[in-house]
Amino acid sequence: MGKVYLVGAGPGDPDLITVKGLKVIQKADVILYDRLINEELLSFAPEEVEQIYCGKLPEYHTLKQESINRFLCKFASQGKTVVRLKGGDPFIFGRGGEEAEALVKKGIPFEIVPGISAGAAAPAYAGIPLTHRDFSSSVAFVSGVSHKDDTEADWQRWARSVDTLCIYMGVKQLPYVCEQLIKHGRGRQTPVAIVHWGTTEQQQTVTGTLADIVEVSEGIKNPSMIIIGDVVKLRERLQWFEDLYLTESSTSSVI
Ligand SMILES: C[S@@+](CC[C@H](N)C(=O)[O-])C[C@H]1O[C@@H](n2cnc3c(N)ncnc32)[C@H](O)[C@@H]1O
Repeated sequence: MGKVYLVGAGPGDPDLITVKGLKVIQKADVILYDRLINEELLSFAPEEVEQIYCGKLPEYHTLKQESINRFLCKFASQGKTVVRLKGGDPFIFGRGGEEAEALVKKGIPFEIVPGISAGAAAPAYAGIPLTHRDFSSSVAFVSGVSHKDDTEADWQRWARSVDTLCIYMGVKQLPYVCEQLIKHGRGRQTPVAIVHWGTTEQQQTVTGTLADIVEVSEGIKNPSMIIIGDVVKLRERLQWFEDLYLTESSTSSVI
C-alpha cells in the first residue's frame, strides 16, 4: 500500500510552500494538482513523476471530485506515493476534508501537510494585518458561495459578531455581501480591500468602502480575497510588497 499526502501549496508565491510540502513533492510518484497552485513547484518532483491536472474553474470542473477521490485511492492501492497538491491550505475551502474522508473509507494511509492559506497570505502581502490591538480582535474566514438558498442569517451573524471578515470566492457575490453587511449594521464607510492574485507578480489591490467597493473594483475577477474591516486602513502605512516588487499600475487605492 502506498500513501496519499494532501499538501497545501500555499497561495501563489512558490517560496511560500512549507519545507515538508516540498519534501513530499520531491519523493512523489504521482501528483494531482489544482488550478491555483504555482506550477513552478512541479519542477521539484522527480523526472518520472506522473502529473495529473485536476484544475477547477469556478464554474467548470475538469475532474469531478468523485473522480479525484477515486484516482487518489487507485494510485495509493498500487503502492505509489501520491501527492494531492492544492492551493493554499487543503483544509480551508480546499475540499481536503472530503478527500481525507474518501481515503479513510478505503483504509488508505494519508498525511495532511498544511499550507499558508490565501486568507492569511493575500492580506499580509497587501499590508493588511487581520488582527490589530487597536482595530480588530477577531477574524472570520468566510466563503462567498454557499450551498444554502438563503444565507441572510449567516451574513447577519457575521456582520455583528466579527471584526475582520476575510471572504474567499466572493467576487461575484460582492454586491450582495456589501448590501447584507450594511443592512445588518456595518457602517457604509467600513473599509474594504480586494486582493487579486495575492503574493504573485500579478497581485493587484483595490480599496474602497462597503458603499463604493463594487463600483471601484469593477473588472476585478477571481482569484481574489475580500477583506472587510477597519484593519484595511493600515494598508496606507504598511503596504510593502507592491512598493518593493511591482509596478505602479498594479496597485490602486481609493481610501
Ligand atoms: C476554492 S478556494 C481555495 C482556498 C485555498 N484552499 C486556500 O487555503 O487559500 C479558492 C479561492 O481562494 C482565494 N484565493 C486563492 N488563491 C488566491 C490568491 N493568490 N489571491 C487571492 N485570493 C486567492 C480566492 O477567493 C479563490 O476564489
